[in-house]
Amino acid sequence: MGMTSAAMSALKTFASSGSTPLSSTFSRHLHASAGSKKIVGVFYKANEYAAMNPSFVGCVEGALGIREWLESQGHQYIVADDKEGPNCELEKHIPDLHVLISTPFHPAYVTAERIKKAKNLQLLLTAGIGSDHIDLNAAAAAGLTVAEITGSNTVSVAEDEMLRILVLVRNFLPGHHQAISGEWNVAAIAHRAYDLEGKTVGTVGAGRIGRLLLQRLKPFNCNLLYHDRLKMDPELEKQIGAKFEEDLDAMLPKCDIIVINMPLTDKTRGLFDKDRIAKCKKGVLIVNNARGAIMDTQAVADACNSGQIGGYGGDVWHPQPSPKDHPWRYMPNNAMTPHISGTTIDAQLRYAAGVKDMLERYFKGEEFPAQNYIVKEGKLASQYQ
Ligand SMILES: NC(=O)c1ccc[n+]([C@@H]2O[C@H](COP(=O)([O-])OP(=O)(O)OC[C@H]3O[C@@H](n4cnc5c(N)ncnc54)[C@H](O)[C@@H]3O)[C@@H](O)[C@H]2O)c1
Repeated sequence: MGMTSAAMSALKTFASSGSTPLSSTFSRHLHASAGSKKIVGVFYKANEYAAMNPSFVGCVEGALGIREWLESQGHQYIVADDKEGPNCELEKHIPDLHVLISTPFHPAYVTAERIKKAKNLQLLLTAGIGSDHIDLNAAAAAGLTVAEITGSNTVSVAEDEMLRILVLVRNFLPGHHQAISGEWNVAAIAHRAYDLEGKTVGTVGAGRIGRLLLQRLKPFNCNLLYHDRLKMDPELEKQIGAKFEEDLDAMLPKCDIIVINMPLTDKTRGLFDKDRIAKCKKGVLIVNNARGAIMDTQAVADACNSGQIGGYGGDVWHPQPSPKDHPWRYMPNNAMTPHISGTTIDAQLRYAAGVKDMLERYFKGEEFPAQNYIVKEGKLASQYQ
């Protein structure tokens, strides 16, 4: 990929900021020179489930369905799920890989140390959305490109959030447990089951997923609020029927249900700590499919135990896979699952196609769709800055 004038000017701006010496910053500018590339994919392993569905491409065994295509072009393609510790499979390939593909569902944590060791690395692709498993500042300083498949699982996550909202509002899970354990106790469920209609729902972050959720909530006749660093276009806001709340802390006490839909960044890490949770309505329901580390883990568990949080549901944890003793596994009224919402079969097919498209562009030296870049030419995408 040749250096465009925009790239040159970004380079000059960055160089004049004096943050990192120019030679080291751009020593690995994205350019797939001719020849075989070593591409490594880190995905979750499917074992006995792998053969159950030919469209199950998001696992190690499915390898995004791009093995034949990559190998027919002379590239080497290694896939693994073993990603932690100094002797893991991923670590063996760090020194000579060119491209690393990972998914947020089974993230390959790309630390500054790994980036330093990865002398040939040019491109980090996220098969999905959310690249917080990568040290983005270190990637930028090393001149790496980080890109994701923006929009690939937006619908999948918004639908799952609808599910978790309803599961918590209706107090569904204890009822289901009764059904399978031979019990029958209507009161134990009904004393804290409500209708969704008429409740105030606030989304913290109203980008692609947040907006879709608001659109899906509209027919339920809720009172809809959103907080974001950007206000929506008035026409869209009217169509969606949600009110902008510039001050997060002013929105929280109004909400019966809060849904987190923002990326994990330096600004959002630990945003929901003890003090912020205390600002919410007592008994608030929280759904978080964004990232676990936006919450203070222990503060959430304590608030569920005290009743300050009436129910907490989501599929994101920190770290992932989550340890057996993670407090969110044991807190009352939780609707937690492993990280699954964005990896439905439909989502897998979309992000696999997106990865193939981006690799094709990388081999040809073409630009990616602008919205897919998280780190480009030493700069982080605006919401990560
Ligand atoms: N659980 C899953 O399977 C899954 C799948 C996809 C995405 N996600 C998570 O959801 C997040 C959102 O995805 P998206 O596609 O809607 O992204 P998006 O970029 O379209 O929207 C993010 C929104 O958050 C807002 N925002 C960012 N920082 C903010 C801040 N400090 N304060 C207020 N608002 C802020 C942005 O302005 C934007 O409107 C992803 O970053 C990812 O972490 C999870």
